[in-house]
Amino acid sequence: MKIALIAKKGGAGKTTICILLHEAFRQTGQTVAVRDYDRIQGSALKSLSRFGGTAEQPGQAYDFLLIDTPPSLTMLSGGKLSAPVAAAAVAEANVVLIPTSPSPFDIWETEDTVQFVKRTNPNAVVRVVLNKTRAGTLLSGSVAEKLEGSSAPVLPVSLSERQCYQHAGVGGWAALDPRARQELLRFTVAVSSLK
Ligand SMILES: Nc1ncnc2c1ncn2[C@@H]1O[C@H](COP(=O)(O)OP(=O)(O)OP(=O)(O)O)[C@@H](O)[C@H]1O
Ligand SMILES: [Mg+2]
Repeated sequence: MKIALIAKKGGAGKTTICILLHEAFRQTGQTVAVRDYDRIQGSALKSLSRFGGTAEQPGQAYDFLLIDTPPSLTMLSGGKLSAPVAAAAVAEANVVLIPTSPSPFDIWETEDTVQFVKRTNPNAVVRVVLNKTRAGTLLSGSVAEKLEGSSAPVLPVSLSERQCYQHAGVGGWAALDPRARQELLRFTVAVSSLK
């Protein structure tokens, strides 16, 4: 299963989610690796090297391949993606995750990206992922209401804002506290059941 992370807005959590999924899949005993299309920042590969994670090796097959992409802010204009890198990631993926903050403004912004994914790879399963949610601050009312006008379903499990998710970028699974691990495993089950 190939899972691409893309977002129109920078800093939505693509790399963090990539690393967290890598660590969670590892716990389940399945093979997993990361392909880092963000050549400029290269954060995913830097992170993996800190805790013995797996970067994709040419010719190797994995149960899960996670594809991280660069900030696409400047790549999407008028609903069109000019840079080929996100397109390459989407074209190869079975599943595309679009992380966003739970703010309605940010959620509405995901629509361009959803449309881009549908045009680029109509066979891909696409889900919006609410990231950095906080207890009590996720706006009351249904998520569906906030997403009015958006055509991609929201993954039913979101990820909270947690400091240990940041620490996982250097310490991997060992940096996660029990509640984070529990949330992350629920998230991972939701993602892996998409295909
Ligand atoms: N669930 C979370 N809890 C706490 N901090 C988070 C969470 N998700 C992301 N962050 C933090 O938010 C910042 C942006 O996250 P990240 O680098 O993963 O986003 P990105 O989409 O990969 O950014 P870029 O577009 O620059 O590649 C980082 O400082 C990261 O540690
Ligand atoms: Mg990143």
